[in-house]
Amino acid sequence: MSPSIEPARLTFALDGTPVSETYGDVYHSAAGGHDQARHVFLAGNGLPERWRGRDSFSVLETGFGLGLNFMATWLAWRNDPQRCRTLEFISVEKHPFSSGDLAIAHAAWSEFASLSGLLCTRWPSLIAGEHRIELDDGHCILRLVFGDAMEQLLRLDAAADAIYLDGFSPARNPELWSPEVCHALARLASPGTTLATWSVAGQVRRSLSAAGFMLEKRPGFAGKRQMLAGRYVSDRSSPFYDQGKKA
Ligand SMILES: C[S@@+](CC[C@H](N)C(=O)[O-])C[C@H]1O[C@@H](n2cnc3c(N)ncnc32)[C@H](O)[C@@H]1O
Repeated sequence: MSPSIEPARLTFALDGTPVSETYGDVYHSAAGGHDQARHVFLAGNGLPERWRGRDSFSVLETGFGLGLNFMATWLAWRNDPQRCRTLEFISVEKHPFSSGDLAIAHAAWSEFASLSGLLCTRWPSLIAGEHRIELDDGHCILRLVFGDAMEQLLRLDAAADAIYLDGFSPARNPELWSPEVCHALARLASPGTTLATWSVAGQVRRSLSAAGFMLEKRPGFAGKRQMLAGRYVSDRSSPFYDQGKKA
């Protein structure tokens, strides 16, 4: 029998930002979830440019949450005349929302109305493991993986072109940013795979560097001074390996 999943409970901070009482943190920047997704996760991974001219492109995310990053990516892909033929979006989530709660939360973004409708209609039962949802005639494939990231990433069969690291803050959600998770992500990367995250915490940088990612700080979104962008340069065989380990 599949291990049971504890769903997330939808609650809002006073300013209307969705918040997790379990983790004591918000689901997205109070300055704007869609803008944050575009600035940090899409631009941080060189998207939409990098999927142009490709047959397929694969994004791997830690923490599906409300699916804002997914919908921002799906919308950018839909609106790009030079998009790759197939977009694959794989996201691991330990505490998924019900489709009803997703629909309530998504009402704040009119630009996502039709995507949210499609996503919520196809939303799977909250059962641990992988759920594959084919959208846009199978050209946008969402692979939702319910369960703990560490456990699920180890068994995942994927080849990521871009990685979105979007846990709650590393201080409140350390297991999603652990050295083991970073190594598990590296297993699914190849030289040239990029990553982006809003966090520049020292522990996150050390874990990613040790796993073989070269990192650079870039201007952050809204009130945040910095964010991280990175590129996998492979492990011991890379001339950058030692440099990465020390960063
Ligand atoms: C900041 S929210 C993600 C927001 C999301 N990317 C979006 O676009 O709406 C962080 C998410 O990480 C999930 N999470 C926390 N710890 C996890 C773990 N160990 N494994 C998988 N998911 C986890 C939380 O349940 C939460 O949904």
